[in-house]
This record gives sequence, C-alpha cells and structure tokens, in this order.
Amino acid sequence: PKTLIEPFRIKSVEPIRMTTRAERERLLEEAHLNIFKLRAEDVLIDWLTDSGTGAMSARQWGAIMEGDESYAGARSFFRLEKVIQDITGMAHFVPTHQGRAAEKVLFTAVCRKGDLVPNNCHFDTTRGNLEYMGVEAVDVVIAEGLQPATIHPFKGNIDLDRAEALLKKEGGRIPFGMLTMTNNTGGGQPVSMANIRAYSALLKQYGKPFIMDVCRFAENAMFIKMRERGYENTPVREIAREMFSYADGATMSAKKDGMVNIGGFIVLRSDEWLDEVRNDLIMMEGFPTYGGMAGRDLEALAVGLEEGLQEDYLRYRLRTAEYLGERLEAAGVGFVKPTGGHAVYIDARTVLPDMPVQHYPAWALCNALYLEGGIRGVEIGSVMFGKRLEDGTETYHSMELVRLAFPRRMYTQSHFDYAAEVIAEVKAKAAGIRGVRITRQPRFLRHFTCECAWV
Ligand code: F0G
Repeated sequence: PKTLIEPFRIKSVEPIRMTTRAERERLLEEAHLNIFKLRAEDVLIDWLTDSGTGAMSARQWGAIMEGDESYAGARSFFRLEKVIQDITGMAHFVPTHQGRAAEKVLFTAVCRKGDLVPNNCHFDTTRGNLEYMGVEAVDVVIAEGLQPATIHPFKGNIDLDRAEALLKKEGGRIPFGMLTMTNNTGGGQPVSMANIRAYSALLKQYGKPFIMDVCRFAENAMFIKMRERGYENTPVREIAREMFSYADGATMSAKKDGMVNIGGFIVLRSDEWLDEVRNDLIMMEGFPTYGGMAGRDLEALAVGLEEGLQEDYLRYRLRTAEYLGERLEAAGVGFVKPTGGHAVYIDARTVLPDMPVQHYPAWALCNALYLEGGIRGVEIGSVMFGKRLEDGTETYHSMELVRLAFPRRMYTQSHFDYAAEVIAEVKAKAAGIRGVRITRQPRFLRHFTCECAWV
C-alpha cells in the first residue's frame, strides 16, 4: 500500500524555533526541571498535549466570522445544539469552556462527599475534580489495560466483574458510572462497543446512570470500525451515535475531537439533573446558551465536530501514531501497544530499566527528550498520579509512561521522522539520563506546577 498521506494541504504556517542543547539546558534549569514551565516558543515539537492545540480548517475560520455574540439565545448556540443532538442523540446540550468545567458543573450538581465513581481510568482533571469534592475515583480498567506490552484491541475496556463487585459492595455510594473513551490515562486505548453495551446494561441493572467522558469519541469510533467485528462497513458517525445511545449523559472536552482550541459541553438524555446543572453552570460558567464560550467558539465547534468524524481524517490520524510506533519498535524503545488514537506512550522503564521509581523515570525521560531534541512530551507516571501523604511518604503509579500527544492536523511526517531519530538517540545515551526529586509541590495535580532538582 502507498504512504497514507495527510488528507489536507497547508494554507497558513507558523514558524518553529530551533534552539541549541546549551540553551535547552539553561531553559530547563530555569523551569525547575518541569517542562510545563517552559515557554512554548522554546520548544521545537510540542507534543505536551493534543488538547486545544490543533490547526483549525479554513471552514472553521470562516465560521468564526459568523459567530453570534448575543448574551442570550444566540444563533450560534442553536446551530451547535443541532449538530450535537444529531451526533449524540441526547436532548440537552450545556456548553462549558472546556472539559474540566463540564465535569465540575456535573459533579457539583450530582455528587456528594463520600460518594464513589467507577471508571475505566479517570483522567487527572476528572480524578482531581472528584477528589476535591471528597468523592473517591476508582479505576477498574481490564488487566491488559495496565500492561504496556500486552497487545489487545480494546485495552480501554472496563473490567465488568470488578465494576459489578463495586456496584454490589459500594452501590449506596455510587451516583453514576463513568467510562472514558478513548482511555487517555491507559494509553489512548479504545473501548469496544460490546464493552460499552455490557457496562451500560450492568449499570442499568443496579439503577445507576451512565456518564461517558467522550473527549476522543471519534477516534474511539474509528477504532471500533477498524477492529470490532460487524462494524467494518458502518459509517463512523453511526458508530458514534450507537456509542452515545447506551449512555445517559456525557462530558466532553471539545479541545480534542471537537477540533477547536477551546470549548466543552455536557449532554444529558433526560431533564432530571438539568435544573441543578444549569444553576451551577450560571454560577461557574455563564448563561445556558453560551456557557463558557464565545459565539464564534460555538460556530467553530459546530464545524469541527463534523470534520473530526471524517473517515479519511481519522484513518490518517490513527496511522500517525502507528507510524511512530513502528519507528520506536525498530529502535528498541518500548511503548503501550498497540498505539492509541491521539498519542504514543513510551514505556520509560524500557529506556531506564535501572532507575528507581523514587527518581521518577518517566519524568526523567521527558526532560531528556527536551534536552536532546527540543521535544516536549508529558509524564504519565508517579509525578502525575503519585501522592505525597501527610506522613511524608509517597505513593507511586503502576506505570511510568511518557506521552507524546499529537495536535490535530499540525505536524507532518518529517516531524515524526525527526522525533523518532531523537528518541533513538536518547535511548542510545540512556546511561547518562538523570532522575529528579520534587522540591516543591501543591496539594492537587502536582505535575503542572511542581519544582524539581536533579538527584
Ligand atoms: N477527560 C479526559 C479523558 C481528558 O483527556 C481531558 C483533558 C479532560 C477530561 C479535561 O478536559 O482539558 O478540556 O478541561 N486532557 C488533556 C490532555 C488536558 O492533555 O490529555 P479539558
């Protein structure tokens, strides 16, 4: 088969800045060895996140001019509402400024201190929002989902037995069940339709609503088309619609598969929670017809949601990650297999097998990629998910991953080739990579702002 090309051409470009190794060493020191604190212009290839970082299309930029900035009842709201109702089949659309705001508004309306919410894996903000309210966030992904090297077509699946055990034992504390697709924390791995259907039935049996975290629902739908028997010939849009049909509601960060730089929403099937949700929305985000978004953002999202479901785009999108995976395989670098939708997750333990977890190997590898080639990834390991307890001891995460997340429609194949070369170089020089210790940290989501020193 021929090379699977980017299904677009470039109309507007943004230069990126080359730096020297010596400059990067200084810049990283100034950032207290935390790449979140670097200036973006000091990064050559920014794979920190796929969230809100992508390129918009000419059609989206055109739509922006059509934004209706009226405070109440803006035309742009109704345009987007129609698109979202059509894709999700849900009656109620509540706009927010991004995903975590959707979570915060929904959780504030529905959860109480002492509750427990099961999920395949909660992402950091979801967990953060719940824990901040005194709610326990429990991850029950299938065992394969925590084994980077094990190949499984749907590593994002929730473990139905463990979910049922929780429902039996802790049912009184569970306001709803969640499922994240794709499973970002576990490697951008998809959830199968069979698993969605079965989890939905299980929750129904225990009388619990089903809320999906659907930031990357289009990528998940494409994986179902490519990997799940019976869906080979189903249009992705119909697959997405079936996915939503099993849920009672969803939270969405539109900064991912919505193909926009900012935006999010809640959708709900019934109006049971709607008054409470809208009250919280007005307090935290804004009036119900704009939430936290400008009219022009609503317009860009109405176009972006459609573009994010185009199959040529999705096929290229998933191939991008697979391609980098093939290059890493050739270099002997381990990663979460198979590659996920929006990112490649390097298994830092395969590069730094001897570094103790106390020195945060995935964080160390992140720093090394920046120093070697100006690449910025993100640690998904014990800085992100570990905790310093009251008594000064630490908890650690089960995996030490470095996520390289790809902004949508932004980097070309030669950027990926360059990155593969840098990673191979880092692996070859791994003996010189230094670990870190944390010298300052906040109580929640410490990876964003903590400061480190070399050990
Ligand atoms: N849920 C998932 C699965 C996410 O990946 C994110 C964000 C959110 C919720 C929150 O959405 O950022 O719009 O508030 N993930 C980004 C990332 C930040 O880098 O993976 P948000």
